Amino acid sequence: MPQISPSILSADFARLADEAEAVRGSDWLHVDVMDNHFVPNLTLGVPVVESLARATDIPLDCHLMIEDPDRWAPQFVEAGAGSITFHVEAAAAPVRLAREIRAKGARASMALKPGTPIEPYEDLLPELDMLLIMTVEPGFGGQAFLDIMLPKIRRTRELIAKHDLELWLQVDGGVSASTIERCAEAGADVFVAGSAVYGAEDPAEAVRNLRELAAKASADAWWACEH
Ligand code: DX5
Ligand code: ZN
Repeated sequence: MPQISPSILSADFARLADEAEAVRGSDWLHVDVMDNHFVPNLTLGVPVVESLARATDIPLDCHLMIEDPDRWAPQFVEAGAGSITFHVEAAAAPVRLAREIRAKGARASMALKPGTPIEPYEDLLPELDMLLIMTVEPGFGGQAFLDIMLPKIRRTRELIAKHDLELWLQVDGGVSASTIERCAEAGADVFVAGSAVYGAEDPAEAVRNLRELAAKASADAWWACEH
């Protein structure tokens, strides 16, 4: 079953607990941490994640768009995040970091910006619980989906099948009712959606609709059929 992770970047930051409640039934809550160095935007840090983890039952999917994730990621696990995604472009020692995140009890995930290829990281995949393929340049919500990322999603799904891995494949950026099916067909199974969820009249209904579209699109895909 595909999973949906609504991004609170498109929510009202003054009412985060209510905004989490508004997407009741979603699989994860996607929390975009930006430091104004790795990306040209600044959002929130450990104390906010700590409070949000206490305020909702939905597990937190923390996407760290920050420099020096080797130093900071463990603190986000301690703050209560269920999944931590670091960017490989920023990590000094991705294998050591993934192992540390897992050892502390969270799912370990690695993200690739649009210009970063997957192939050099084939041997690292068994160290991860999820791989995030960015479908926009990280930094802002509401950007247009990059179709040119679909071949990378497909190639990553082929690597997951080749090595018979239990690795989730997440996409983030411009995912909406009009792009989610392409992502699902190509091999994604965890979908971040910010503006498509929080811009909707009924965010919980938008989550259900996205999940249904993804489920239908992946039902006949080669990669889902084999499993
Ligand atoms: C962008 C963030 C995304 C963002 C997605 O850098 O990583 O999670 O919130 O927003 P939408 O779904 O509006 O493209
Ligand atoms: Zn994100």
